[in-house]
Amino acid sequence: RKKIAVMTSGGDSPGMNAVVRAVVRMGIHMDCDVFAVYEGYEGLVRGGNYIKQMGWEDVRGYLSEGGTLIGTARCMAFYERPGRMTAAKNMVLNGIDALIICGGDGSLTGADKFRAEWPSLLEELVSKGELQQSQIEPYKHLNIVGLVGSIDNDLSGTDATIGAYSALARICEMVDYIEATASSHSRAFVIEVMGRHCGWLALMAAVATGADFLFIPEKPREDNWREEMCQVIKQHREMGKRKTIVIIAEGALDKHGEKVTPTMVKDLLADKDGLGLDTRITTLGHVQRGGTAVAYDRMLGTLQGVEAVKAVLEATPETETCFIAITENKIARKPLMAAVKETKEVASLIEQQRFNEAMALRDTEFSD
Ligand code: F6P
Repeated sequence: RKKIAVMTSGGDSPGMNAVVRAVVRMGIHMDCDVFAVYEGYEGLVRGGNYIKQMGWEDVRGYLSEGGTLIGTARCMAFYERPGRMTAAKNMVLNGIDALIICGGDGSLTGADKFRAEWPSLLEELVSKGELQQSQIEPYKHLNIVGLVGSIDNDLSGTDATIGAYSALARICEMVDYIEATASSHSRAFVIEVMGRHCGWLALMAAVATGADFLFIPEKPREDNWREEMCQVIKQHREMGKRKTIVIIAEGALDKHGEKVTPTMVKDLLADKDGLGLDTRITTLGHVQRGGTAVAYDRMLGTLQGVEAVKAVLEATPETETCFIAITENKIARKPLMAAVKETKEVASLIEQQRFNEAMALRDTEFSD
């Protein structure tokens, strides 16, 4: 019987439990033994009780639970070859050579590296006498399939990462709460949202809540953003609006690559010589990642989990490591490393653009 393992890695995201449930049940349906690796890569390195065979009932109730019930961790040992060697040994001892990982692009890149190294890791284990040649013989090749679990929605090649819509819903709910008190006191709120280097959550939340002003990393504001923001907000206030909401992505930068902070924005809104608004800062923090998954993420985790089992069983030594995407509402397999590369290219393009703009501005300043 084929043995496959499922693991969650990196920051948790709502919908990861739907993935684990779908992989376990689809795997059993396909006549496989399915294992859950607890605590991400840490569990692979530790082995023993961290790698547990799952039955159909073990994942009952998973759809309506937030976070990841099989745990996740940032594992330093896995960054080093000896850690990966121990992980490979634990997998061989359990007869596992097919791994489905749900995590962000860093976790998935680590998985691809592990797969590439696998034959040499096994050879070294044999040469060191930790495994017998006969033990590694059936497991010469490692198959890996990735699922993108992240609230940030920051991977190229897929329309949505598992967890992004839940976090967005949570942000909107929180902004609604804030609006009630903001309106009561006629106050302004500067709300910082997560997303790491990606502005998707902030942008979509601003659209969905009708925020007054927004800062995201992908499109730094012009140098006159202070005047522009005050002008827009003044206009909204003159139209009778009793509340002001400014959303800042945690990765927001200005044209010079400097961080735009909630305090900077608050000080400006509160400035007595300007708008003089009674202003508060709210950093939403980890409430965005917690709580149960919205229907979309449960559906996405389930459909992608099913597809991942099919993909890992069909993979051959020749197939590239794939991840499961959703594009134009269709679940699709795509080459993992191409998507990671594209994501990095977009990020560096933004960096480059920002650098060029900063240089151009500096040149103008010099020529003035
Ligand atoms: O990648 C998900 C995320 O929640 C980011 O939005 C945020 O920047 C980061 O993780 C926070 O990480 P931690 O939970 O380690 O503080």
